[in-house]
Amino acid sequence: MSPKERLIVAMDILDKRQCLDMIGFLSPAVGYFKVGIAPFTAFGEELLRAVAAAGKKVFLDLKFHDIPNTVKNAAYAAAKRNIQMLNFHCSGGEAMLQAARDGALLAAKEGAPKPLLIGVTVLTSMDKEDLRKSGWAGSVEEKVKELALIASRSGMDGVVASPLEIGMIKETCGRDFIVVTPGIRPEWADGDDQKRITTPAEAIRAGADYIVVGRPIIAAKDPLEAAKRIVEEMESSVGCGT
Ligand code: C5P
Repeated sequence: MSPKERLIVAMDILDKRQCLDMIGFLSPAVGYFKVGIAPFTAFGEELLRAVAAAGKKVFLDLKFHDIPNTVKNAAYAAAKRNIQMLNFHCSGGEAMLQAARDGALLAAKEGAPKPLLIGVTVLTSMDKEDLRKSGWAGSVEEKVKELALIASRSGMDGVVASPLEIGMIKETCGRDFIVVTPGIRPEWADGDDQKRITTPAEAIRAGADYIVVGRPIIAAKDPLEAAKRIVEEMESSVGCGT
């Protein structure tokens, strides 16, 4: 996979016109667009159509988390939309993740492409103190490991996790287990609210299969230039493009 195909741009833009324009504008430099809960809720239909028209892939980042039957139906409905990546909160448990897989496979049986199924571990905006407040006494890494194992046992293709956890996840779940990493900040960009961050080059070197970048691109003065710069940084990393 080329670095460009491994760059997922988070389209966290609430203004419809601006969001749709940005897709056309950024398409030459990126492989995937991540469609999250905010723009999807506001104008999802048009957004998915615009990405498909640009010939790009969709990571539908709706982070499903509900009872197994509901998630199965949601996964089925999402997979029917011809998307390439879809995610679920691992904290929903094995039965929920297995049901999610069943839903996506059912859609595939009916002719839809099977999306990569990705589990969400610990949000990169959370740190040890946030986990402690929610009742977890261990480290962030222990929690991520536990959730990645649940995903792997349930037939997910991979997980979303911070770049700092990639090595541990690959060791625990195998080299082919996909790791998608947000919390990416080039040295020239702001950290914003992300607490566990790393640069694009470091993430690729650490073994990330895909990196998710939002604000450093979409809020840049020149978003296309920012995306190209990030792809160049990814290219400069050892093992990239293999
Ligand atoms: O703007 P920024 O690069 O921080 O955007 C990161 C994107 O990745 C956001 O859309 C956020 O919802 C998503 N994400 C994350 N941490 C996770 C999972 C998803 O930041 N663990």
